[in-house]
Amino acid sequence: MERIDANGFVRGKYVIMTGATSGIGLAAAKELAFRGANLGIVARNEAKAKEAAARIKAAAGSSATVDIFMADMASQQSIRKAAADILERWPQIHILVNNAGAMFIERRLTADDIEMTWAVNHLAPFLLTNLLLDRLKECGRGRIITTASHGHRMAGKGIRFDDLGAEKLYRFPGNVLGGANLRYGETKLANIMFTNELGRKLEGTGLTAACFDPGLVSTNFNQDNGRLARMTMAVMKWFSRSPEKGAETLVWLADEEKITVSDGSYFKDRQSVKPSGHALDQDAAGRLWEISEKQLR
Ligand SMILES: NC(=O)c1ccc[n+]([C@@H]2O[C@H](COP(=O)([O-])OP(=O)(O)OC[C@H]3O[C@@H](n4cnc5c(N)ncnc54)[C@H](OP(=O)(O)O)[C@@H]3O)[C@@H](O)[C@H]2O)c1
Repeated sequence: MERIDANGFVRGKYVIMTGATSGIGLAAAKELAFRGANLGIVARNEAKAKEAAARIKAAAGSSATVDIFMADMASQQSIRKAAADILERWPQIHILVNNAGAMFIERRLTADDIEMTWAVNHLAPFLLTNLLLDRLKECGRGRIITTASHGHRMAGKGIRFDDLGAEKLYRFPGNVLGGANLRYGETKLANIMFTNELGRKLEGTGLTAACFDPGLVSTNFNQDNGRLARMTMAVMKWFSRSPEKGAETLVWLADEEKITVSDGSYFKDRQSVKPSGHALDQDAAGRLWEISEKQLR
């Protein structure tokens, strides 16, 4: 990762990050710690979290703080507990990075009765952000960064409000992973629409909401979906970026002194880029926000 443009916004700041135990999140956490940030990583697996925390501290080469907060992003109760722990422990939170994400080849429901991809990729960041929002606002110039994807373009029909549980979508036979790909794309579209709506709600607060496409990155993504998915990912590795390269825009969004958000708050390779038309639909984003609130338990 290039280090020439370290701008120093994160130095001494407290960053909460989900999905920092592997891939893009781990690479970003290491770089942010190296640049002087203190981190709170939110993870579901304690052993992996401890190992990641040790690697992040080693990368920082200093006495960086790396706290661990346990949460399964598929469980709203678990997210609420982690948020309460964070708020109790840290009087100041400057940056929240919603990075945890996954794809599920088979349709599954969470304990909250929500389709799993939607729960982990969209509702979890929606809930965690809202739970930490007042604390972030108190810091004045904070940031909320969400890892989206070019895959949002797979949701060619936008958010299917008539199939929020993805029952019809998972029956779609048109691609190699069935409807799982399309569902994943829909949740990544939701990430961008959420970020845009959040940005509108945050106007005048000093907080910035941004999301980004890391590109195609060689990580642990899609390794739990059977042999065909693993084989597909093995082929895609040839065309993939390293996790460090995939993390560059995240790190830049966190560390750049001034981020100018335009055209839908969506970035790629450290530049604002235009997402799909659906991602910019303000009415749909407002509707998504309202429905997401109703899906909270
Ligand atoms: N790889 C790509 O090409 C690509 C492209 C575009 C966007 N993205 C996005 O990038 C983000 C990071 O993915 P990655 O590629 O770095 O994959 P990864 O290596 O599989 O990392 C995913 C991270 O999310 C965590 N996570 C997943 N489900 C969770 C849950 N239920 N509760 C708590 N944590 C959970 C994982 O924790 P564990 O370590 O416990 O599994 C891990 O830390 C995702 O949002 C993904 O959609 C990836």
